[in-house]
Amino acid sequence: MGEGPELVVASAPGKCILFGEHAVVYGQPAVAVAIEQRLTVSMTPATSWSVDGSALDENKHPHITMLKDIWLHEAPPMALHISGDIPRASGLGSSAALSSAVGAAMHHLAHPEKGIDRDGLSALAHRAEAHAQGGRASPMDASTSVEGGVVVLSDHKETIGKWMYTRQLTTPEGKRTWEVHKLTPHHDDIYLVLGNTGVHAPTAKQVTMVADALAADPSRMNEIKAIGTVARRGLAALVQGDYEAVGHAMIENHLLLRNLGVSSPELETLIQAAAPSSLGVKLTGAGGGGCMVALTRDPKQTSEAIELAGGRALISHIGNEGVRLES
Ligand code: MEV
Repeated sequence: MGEGPELVVASAPGKCILFGEHAVVYGQPAVAVAIEQRLTVSMTPATSWSVDGSALDENKHPHITMLKDIWLHEAPPMALHISGDIPRASGLGSSAALSSAVGAAMHHLAHPEKGIDRDGLSALAHRAEAHAQGGRASPMDASTSVEGGVVVLSDHKETIGKWMYTRQLTTPEGKRTWEVHKLTPHHDDIYLVLGNTGVHAPTAKQVTMVADALAADPSRMNEIKAIGTVARRGLAALVQGDYEAVGHAMIENHLLLRNLGVSSPELETLIQAAAPSSLGVKLTGAGGGGCMVALTRDPKQTSEAIELAGGRALISHIGNEGVRLES
């Protein structure tokens, strides 16, 4: 098809939110980890722009089109091939990983002399997420995929970890500010098992549902604040390496999310199946389907329980490398 040799390959991790999804959109603290599962993009010269064999289409590939217009506007066309083991539309940050890997690859083509600009790249990936989510998106997915490790968001600078940058967004409910930090996780014999329900629930729909519930009954903001309190407790336990307490906070966080209406029968089935062999279990990401996460010292047993209950299990350590160029 007139394509030359591979020019650039980049990969980026998915993410798993341990604490604080949904509440983080309203400025509450949240904690996410980069998972082992990654998305890889390779870009080769071609006669026209394409993604996995189909023409690049602004409606189908809004993130890729935005990044191309920023960095490779005048550049000769390229064929993009996307592969990897992050399930799509399942709460594991596949869209942020796409922005992050494509952004790193395109930036490298445009500026081969410069290294990865993580601050700039995560800001662009956040912008793409906000666009896709109707203007309501925290920088959590974008920063975790770009930076790797464990990422902590808060409405103020924290004393734990390393503060990296400030992000702001004007959402339909007002202006939000997030301070973004990175933690180095403990190396411990502890695993995350992600259980995929196979049900796709768009993040935009889930985020809008929460916004509508809060608009209908503003006193429910107390539930959002309660998630923030639990997230803070979970974060303190994580910093101390007290995984029993981390697990307890995950369970509390899940009960609050369920009450908020973002769980689903399929998620509850996998959560119940994984609970006996885990320190903590909860839905992860936007909910309504997608994935649950279990914190466990016995990933084999927890994975088997999830699979027996009809889910697909993925195992990951806590904290993995962020976006990187592969060649
Ligand atoms: C989605 O991965 C996490 C949400 O909190 C949305 C966001 O933070 O943008 C539901």
